[in-house]
Amino acid sequence: MDMIETIRKRRSVREFSEKPPDERTIMKTLEAARWAPSGLNNQPWRFLVVRDTETKEGLAGFTKYSGIILGAPVSIIACLDHDSSYNRDKDVMAVGAAIQNILLCACSLGLGTCWLGEIINRKEEVARYLKLADSLEIMAVIAMGYPAGNIEDGQRKPLPELLLEQ
Ligand SMILES: Cc1cc2nc3c(=O)[nH]c(=O)nc-3n(C[C@H](O)[C@H](O)[C@H](O)COP(=O)(O)O)c2cc1C
Repeated sequence: MDMIETIRKRRSVREFSEKPPDERTIMKTLEAARWAPSGLNNQPWRFLVVRDTETKEGLAGFTKYSGIILGAPVSIIACLDHDSSYNRDKDVMAVGAAIQNILLCACSLGLGTCWLGEIINRKEEVARYLKLADSLEIMAVIAMGYPAGNIEDGQRKPLPELLLEQ
């Protein structure tokens, strides 16, 4: 699949089959994250891969999207490492770029993902629950697995609405 096709085909997946992605496949998506751009090349992203049911059940308790976390074989916790940070705005964007690399790479490998942001409303509690180091701030949880059920068609504003004129 070429890049434009992958970008166009990627959709948020919220229903997953029970088949877990293997370790190598998960690592390929994190390898894609590793090559994201960052300001001063500071690479402020860190990732925790959660596969065990008990931890996922605990995580699910912090979000109204609990069903997505419980249904996905894997949850990836994407963090900003303050010890590597130099400019918050830029570092947050860099973590976003790394997350998008994960989503696109996963899509190209036949995996489905959903970027979960609502859970960061309780990011301090989640970090305590996961026993993360104090330097780590949770930016998102990525639910990952093989898609099941219907994947909805995407909807976007038309390009002319996005173009600014002076
Ligand atoms: C920063 C961010 C936060 C998001 N948070 C959630 C979330 O908490 N729950 C959810 O189901 N989807 C979440 N999404 C997925 C969006 O709903 C989805 O990307 C958007 O509706 C466009 O659909 P598509 O990804 O299928 O193209 C989030 C996406 C982004 C980029």
